[in-house]
Amino acid sequence: MTFFVVARLDQLPEDRGTRVRVGAETVLLIRTGNQVRAYQADCPHAGAPLEQGVVHQGQLICPWHKGAFACDSGQLCEPPALTNLKRYRVDIRHDDRVWVADEPMAPAVAPRVPDSRRILVIGAGAAGAAAVATLKAKGYGKNLTWIDKEAQPAYDRTALSKYVLAGEMPPTEVPALLEPEVYRAPPIRLLQAEVRRLDPERRQVLLADGQRLNYDAALLATGAEPRMPAIEGADLAGVFMLRSRQDAVRLLELARPGKRVAVVGDSFIGLESASALRKRGLMVHLIGRHAVPLQKQLGDRIGSAVRALHEQHGVIYHPGCEARALVGEGQVQQVILDNDQRIAVDLVLFGVGVRPATAFVEGLQRAEDGSLIADSGLAVADGLWAAGDMVSYPCDGRSQRIEHWRVAQQQGRLAARNLLGEHLRFADVPFFWTYFYDQTFEVLGHARRWDRIVFEGEPEQYRFIALLCFHEEVESVVACEYPRAMALLSQRMQRPLSRSEALELIHATPE
Ligand SMILES: Cc1cc2nc3c(=O)[nH]c(=O)nc-3n(C[C@H](O)[C@H](O)[C@H](O)COP(=O)(O)OP(=O)(O)OC[C@H]3O[C@@H](n4cnc5c(N)ncnc54)[C@H](O)[C@@H]3O)c2cc1C
Ligand code: FES
Repeated sequence: MTFFVVARLDQLPEDRGTRVRVGAETVLLIRTGNQVRAYQADCPHAGAPLEQGVVHQGQLICPWHKGAFACDSGQLCEPPALTNLKRYRVDIRHDDRVWVADEPMAPAVAPRVPDSRRILVIGAGAAGAAAVATLKAKGYGKNLTWIDKEAQPAYDRTALSKYVLAGEMPPTEVPALLEPEVYRAPPIRLLQAEVRRLDPERRQVLLADGQRLNYDAALLATGAEPRMPAIEGADLAGVFMLRSRQDAVRLLELARPGKRVAVVGDSFIGLESASALRKRGLMVHLIGRHAVPLQKQLGDRIGSAVRALHEQHGVIYHPGCEARALVGEGQVQQVILDNDQRIAVDLVLFGVGVRPATAFVEGLQRAEDGSLIADSGLAVADGLWAAGDMVSYPCDGRSQRIEHWRVAQQQGRLAARNLLGEHLRFADVPFFWTYFYDQTFEVLGHARRWDRIVFEGEPEQYRFIALLCFHEEVESVVACEYPRAMALLSQRMQRPLSRSEALELIHATPE
């Protein structure tokens, strides 16, 4: 191992990291007073340059999806990253020169937990993977079975409607969620199987092949299934929904450049898919119930800017419409709208919402949308926890369910820790990102009401940050091209935030 001199102490800011070369390695220096620590410079989640994030209250927050790490140890604090940062030795010598070693230190290994309970994690998507990573990081691994019905689960499904449909990422190269080491020492028992029944009283599951498994503690993370509307022609060939890698593979077989597709649904999945299929060279019709998409979540001005972005890229918009029927001889050929307009198509993609995947769970109370109802620690019964799209949890005196990747992972981590004996309450601020035509939109919080939207920048220029406020309090924040301010707010919004303080923080956080 060789040490290299890389900076002087007084050259290093404290509100952000500094990227330096150390021999063949690229390293991020984090300064706190007279101390400097060195970590890998790219985020272990999707490779964001961490020097573009912020350092706030002892955490380094990633600019892209707001994963967070402890500044003093590199330990993971918030997903979507699921591993700690690699750390490098630092030595501050005479003249305040900072020397850094060119090889990472060996990662800390958690002492094994003496827990021999039979633990089941069911579902290997966002929440399940985060739960398994947490159980392993906490030293549990003795008797862990992880079940999913997909052949190769635990991949980043958010890439499907962005890069895979666009033809920018082959389905086989969608990033895996866990590093290979997580599966080893002690090994996880991975089972490809569909769970047909779960009896919380007897603590037993029944698999589709008739096998029964008993458990002492289980964590449910089966997500949600896309809904197919009950309309004539929905069973024709060429009609798709998008949730899994296999769904994307099937869709791509037909979605060749020049083909005509109707995307039905103007929520995030529909909008992302429309954008990706335009990039791929298809003619895209977007059929949405609303005159302005996302108006309910983001307000009129931002929703209109999203619609304009799609239209600028050639999407043919059919606002305020629903698909009444699909017509074709074996293969879909036309969509008939509720205003009787007929659209000639080669394929149809529905993105009209999901149903929580809870049908296999016996005897537990459900919310109106079919989700399981958890307490604030995400327990749904004795010895049973649930996380992600399948669960509602208490928030501000009501029950809510959120379909966001990072929330599912935060819940998976928290539920896993509670399963191991902690008593944590879930109260994180939801964060969501979406992506159309190379523009990332970020959303923090979940505004149910607002009486004013304060803008910095212009949504129509796709460079803005908007505070959705009720009275003087910020309910949620929406932004394009403000990754550092959003990183800081992702942490600060854990507590109530006034409009004036939010503006001060935004002005004090240059991008
Ligand atoms: C195409 C797409 C793009 C998205 N993009 C974004 C985005 O950009 N940002 C964002 O925040 N969110 C995004 N989302 C939403 C996000 O992916 C979900 O909120 C998140 O995946 C929920 O995680 P989960 O673990 O609850 O469910 P999932 O990730 O769906 O995982 C559930 C797993 O359970 C398995 N399973 C289900 N039932 C059974 C059973 N009976 N037996 C065995 N296994 C079972 C499934 O095979 C699956 O692997 C996107 C969703 C989709 C579909
Ligand atoms: S790249 Fe850092 S959290 Fe996604």
